[in-house]
Amino acid sequence: MKVHTYEKAFLWVGVIVLIACAGALAYASLGMGIHLPGASGRIDPARVYSTAPFNRPGVRLTAPNRYEVVMIGQAWAFNPPEVRVPAGAEVTFTATSVDIIHGLAVAGTRLNMMLIPGQISRNTIRFDEPGEHLIICHEYCGLGHHTMSGKVIVEPARTSAEAADGESQPASAEHHQ
Ligand code: CUA
Repeated sequence: MKVHTYEKAFLWVGVIVLIACAGALAYASLGMGIHLPGASGRIDPARVYSTAPFNRPGVRLTAPNRYEVVMIGQAWAFNPPEVRVPAGAEVTFTATSVDIIHGLAVAGTRLNMMLIPGQISRNTIRFDEPGEHLIICHEYCGLGHHTMSGKVIVEPARTSAEAADGESQPASAEHHQ
């Protein structure tokens, strides 16, 4: 079969674009760790506050230099409204909603989740630089939607000796233990 030169060239363009896109996708998911936020569990929305880990919202150290932020969305606030984590640590947000659909986006980062009643959302991120990030609800949830916000305060990284020592958790972790 004779394939015209131009047709052959266009076919190769198609093949190259396809390989480049597959490569970009693989790099984003494997190299950069970007994933679609999925449901990582189910929960009875009426019993969120009495179901672990949501009975203790807040920050806790789960392993050396690893933290879990347990957060609850409700009309129209995040509980807790403010969390403190150290820079450079691996921080997993575990969140759900007690009423209707909310969003949880940490401004200036790629952390962006939906809080769906009945579903537990989980996503992990590392804050490289100390600073403050606004948490915003990005799903319209009624009259107070625009007031629904929170804050992540990223504190300067601590030494590995401090991080391994449970005594020196961020101040906010103490309040919720
Ligand atoms: Cu909650 Cu918008």
